[in-house]
Amino acid sequence: MALIETVGLKKIYNLGGSVIAALDGITTNIEKGEFVAIMGPSGSGKSTFMNLIGCLDKPTAGRCFLEGMDIGCLNRDELAVIRNKKIGFVFQSFNLLPRTSAIENVELPMLYSGLSPLDRKLRARKALKMMGLEGREEHLPNQLSGGQQQRVAIARALVNDAPLIMADEPTGNLDTKASEEIMELFVKLNEESHITVILVTHEHDIAAFSKRIIRFLDGKIVSDEKRSRP
Ligand SMILES: Nc1ncnc2c1ncn2[C@@H]1O[C@H](COP(=O)(O)OP(=O)(O)OP(=O)(O)O)[C@@H](O)[C@H]1O
Ligand SMILES: [Mg+2]
Repeated sequence: MALIETVGLKKIYNLGGSVIAALDGITTNIEKGEFVAIMGPSGSGKSTFMNLIGCLDKPTAGRCFLEGMDIGCLNRDELAVIRNKKIGFVFQSFNLLPRTSAIENVELPMLYSGLSPLDRKLRARKALKMMGLEGREEHLPNQLSGGQQQRVAIARALVNDAPLIMADEPTGNLDTKASEEIMELFVKLNEESHITVILVTHEHDIAAFSKRIIRFLDGKIVSDEKRSRP
């Protein structure tokens, strides 16, 4: 069974009489353990696609399955539960809570997990350590570099043992060196922990870390190529 399967997925926006097909019939499969880069020009539907398969938004038409479950017919609360269990999100702008320490940011997704406060702390500490952030637990986001903030965000994405990480331009706000470090972490998570990674990027150097590149144009897939990582 595919981790993600979409069939004729569409998202149509109707704005003051003009109709925009942000996604215009996407049929594709993503298997467990893949590392996929989504590319394509601005406005081609990449974020819309990520939002639909990430249970953040609902399609206008077509179907989307996550581990065989049709997520199109779930209500908002049900989608939130699936998201929390199955998907770790990483964003271009890190999306950490300000005035909240690194470790508390990582603990957030576990608040409703039933774990004790001590277990939450231990797990968060372990996730930060995996990201090379030992000793930075009590730092506030503005006391960390961009690359370090993004590593806190990845620790937060991982801490519930989500099998899938989705990242929309995760290196968009980072310099080349920090970008490479972040990509190497994604590769490690993919190879060693078998976490499926789906990321959006504009940069070929970043897509080069992936094993499959799907290109979007005008809401459609125009190419889909598997490749070996150099
Ligand atoms: N809420 C909305 N209402 C109306 N139109 C929207 C909405 N969200 C997206 N669109 C339109 O849908 C199309 C696809 O947008 P989307 O954000 O998916 O593009 P993208 O490929 O992620 O672009 P970028 O690389 O700039 O992030 C665009 O034409 C956009 O204007
Ligand atoms: Mg986008």
